[in-house]
Amino acid sequence: MAILDIVIHPDARLRKISAPITAITEELKKFLEDFTETMYERDGVGLAAPQVGVLKRVVVIDINAGDDSKERNPVIYINPEIVSADGYVEFEEGCLSVPKIYEKVIRRETVVVKAYDINMREFITEADGMLAIALQHEIDHLNGKLFIDYISKLKYQRITKKMEKYKKDLDSTENQ
Ligand code: NI
Repeated sequence: MAILDIVIHPDARLRKISAPITAITEELKKFLEDFTETMYERDGVGLAAPQVGVLKRVVVIDINAGDDSKERNPVIYINPEIVSADGYVEFEEGCLSVPKIYEKVIRRETVVVKAYDINMREFITEADGMLAIALQHEIDHLNGKLFIDYISKLKYQRITKKMEKYKKDLDSTENQ
């Protein structure tokens, strides 16, 4: 098992439309194991493949990931699609690709998502609460969208500058 590197904003890979998955290969299964482990290792409740530089339509979510008293229950969503949504809710979000930044975003309150599991069997999830937010946030990643796209332009620019500095500092630490 390997822990994958997280792509940090701003990065062109976070702005691409990811490609649908058409077949489950051994290589993909191996990737999904590393991918899931990476989410836990980085203390995320969700992760989308473009966040580790793989432009494929797959996300993993475990809304209990931060709670050590609960057992791991990662759910893989292949080619996820929001088929219906209802209501609106404001929620404070963060993202492993925009570290240490938390901003309030308006999302749909409930969503119905159609996706495929690791055996390419279709399943439907009706979600509310944190799962509904996580699904919308992660599916956005597959379409090149970040949660900071929903906030003011001024705040967005400030955060982007901060991230550029963060990446520069990270690079100089790694090169020492
Ligand atoms: Ni994210």
